Amino acid sequence: MIPLLEVDALQVVYPGPRDLWGRSRNTVNAVNGVSLTVAPGEALGLVGESGCGKTTLGRAILRLVEASSGRVLFQGEDWLQLSPSELRGRRRHAQMIFQDPNSSLNPRLTVGASLGEALEIHHLANGRAGRLARIRELLAWVGLPEGSEKRYPHEFSGGQRQRIGIARALAVEPKLIVCDEPVSALDVSVQAQIVNLLQELQGARRLAYLFISHDLAVVEHLCARIAVMYLGRLVEVGPARDVCRTPAHPYTQALVSAVPQLHSDGVPRIQLRGDPPSPVTPPSGCPFHPRCPVAEARCRTERPLLRVIGQDRQVACHLAV
Ligand SMILES: Nc1ncnc2c1ncn2[C@@H]1O[C@H](COP(=O)(O)OP(=O)(O)OP(=O)(O)O)[C@@H](O)[C@H]1O
Ligand SMILES: [Mg+2]
Repeated sequence: MIPLLEVDALQVVYPGPRDLWGRSRNTVNAVNGVSLTVAPGEALGLVGESGCGKTTLGRAILRLVEASSGRVLFQGEDWLQLSPSELRGRRRHAQMIFQDPNSSLNPRLTVGASLGEALEIHHLANGRAGRLARIRELLAWVGLPEGSEKRYPHEFSGGQRQRIGIARALAVEPKLIVCDEPVSALDVSVQAQIVNLLQELQGARRLAYLFISHDLAVVEHLCARIAVMYLGRLVEVGPARDVCRTPAHPYTQALVSAVPQLHSDGVPRIQLRGDPPSPVTPPSGCPFHPRCPVAEARCRTERPLLRVIGQDRQVACHLAV
């Protein structure tokens, strides 16, 4: 099947921390040569510790930050080569849902006006009556009470606001939604409701997700495949079930063994030591070697590339089998 999204050797470089005089000598390779694919209607989970580059990758795919090099093929077309006006025309196909829905909702607009704006920009509803009918339909899909279109964002709970964010993303009938930690700011009980809603919508609308989270249990529940990121690079990719039951990379093993509900009895218990190294001065060789319990001499000098280790599985570790 032709992928909906194909990311090829994507790189994003930020200026590094500034010194006392405001000068920035170093650079941060926040995303360092990431390649991945997402099929139509597929949910790909992206996990990894804070600062490993998940948000930057998601934003670079949607061109909300500019990539330094690589390709982002959406339905075969390289979005990094599009002019600003071409990009505006394509934007509706790929939307983003944020951790904090407040950041994507204008507090001064009613929910109806926010959704109406999205419909108008992309000419997706005919006249006032058509627009209102569509807005009510969208709000019903995401489980908000009747009359919600007349209210303002602050009149809703956090979970409801996230539903509004989802309705706003859905308004333009996207094919892909990048969900950046969409439930981590919510209560656990509300998290499950929002995850279930995303799952229902995926089935009903054949939506593809790039689902960013540091919660492996949520990702395993929602996603068919998982990509594990460490210090700007992917270190393991594979079917969600396999990655969680038999993680191949020691870093994935550490993430999995920290989540008791994954029932991964055979997985070696690895406790991660220390913080992730700074992306300004990444370690030589395998970037995980300073924290890896099984690292050998060559892990300190030779960087392992992603290689195939089984059906649809890849890992970047010299020692994984
Ligand atoms: N605008 C920016 N300018 C400079 N450096 C940045 C900028 N945004 C992010 N970074 C750096 O890039 C790296 C990746 O950040 P990013 O926000 O993508 O990580 P993340 O995996 O989403 O983390 P979290 O789980 O905390 O959301 C970090 O080292 C961060 O400090
Ligand atoms: Mg982030």
